[in-house]
Amino acid sequence: MTQPLLALNDDRSIPQLGFGLWQVPAGSTATTTAAALRLGYRLVDGAAVYGNEAGQGEGVRQSGLPRDQFFVTTKVWNSDQGFDSAIRAAEASLKRLGLPYVDLLLIHWPCSRKDRYLDTWRALIRLRDDGKARSIGVSNFLEPHLERIIGETGVTPVLNQVELNPRLQQPALRAFHAKHGIVTQSWTPLGRGQSFDASPIQAAARRSGKTPVQVILRWHIQIGASVIPRSTREAGLAENLDIFDFALTEAEMAAMATLDEGARCGPDPATFEMG
Ligand SMILES: NC(=O)c1ccc[n+]([C@@H]2O[C@H](COP(=O)([O-])OP(=O)(O)OC[C@H]3O[C@@H](n4cnc5c(N)ncnc54)[C@H](OP(=O)(O)O)[C@@H]3O)[C@@H](O)[C@H]2O)c1
Repeated sequence: MTQPLLALNDDRSIPQLGFGLWQVPAGSTATTTAAALRLGYRLVDGAAVYGNEAGQGEGVRQSGLPRDQFFVTTKVWNSDQGFDSAIRAAEASLKRLGLPYVDLLLIHWPCSRKDRYLDTWRALIRLRDDGKARSIGVSNFLEPHLERIIGETGVTPVLNQVELNPRLQQPALRAFHAKHGIVTQSWTPLGRGQSFDASPIQAAARRSGKTPVQVILRWHIQIGASVIPRSTREAGLAENLDIFDFALTEAEMAAMATLDEGARCGPDPATFEMG
């Protein structure tokens, strides 16, 4: 199947739907990755801290797809922030992945108190210029972090990967991204199932003959986000991919908007410093 693509601000593009590898066991990551690519996924979201980059690389090789047909993301972990250490960490990721470059390299968290994210961003610019990352972006950055790296370097991240789901819709951050040409990418897009029973989701699922999970993923697509759900089951991967033959109506999108409570499942990027 053909995946919809989102344009990046560096003249490249990213598949709008992908799958995530957080908490996918290292021993089964290659099989899961290859199965997902066979089903039709093209974007594989990983990170050094997930401990399964070797399987991520092995899975893309097992798929037999040519290099320009899949999109690999990895992330620099918090303890590797700083110019030299981020360069070393990204090179170690490439070695584990067995790839000469990744399509997208992200700073995993800003870690404001460490205050090394600006130097880390400069390292990502160097890695991009050296051909080790095709595109560079960030994750869990708030507006002040984004303003600072853009202001100091003149380089705007192509994407910010943030927690986003029906209970945490991030309208202000998304508007900031839109203004600066930054793609929003949604992590924990299913929100730990907390809104599966909500009436707007149930009603749209009944009307469209889709599952609540498919309604939520379709909502991400229609707000213009890139979305990376995780499933370790082949049936789950297939279900999450099957969202391009229906659309939510304007009224259904408006009803979904009422579910926003500003409630996070994960840590607060303003204070998270682990690692
Ligand atoms: N940048 C960051 O800081 C950050 C943080 C968290 C996550 N992420 C990325 O975002 C990705 C997705 O987030 P996530 O893994 O937290 O959560 P998620 O994708 O929202 O949800 C995953 C959970 O939903 C279940 N699930 C998936 N598809 C389903 C379906 N069709 N029906 C029923 N249950 C289903 C999965 O179980 P089964 O496996 O049993 O299907 C799993 O328990 C991660 O894998 C990672 O790549 C990034």
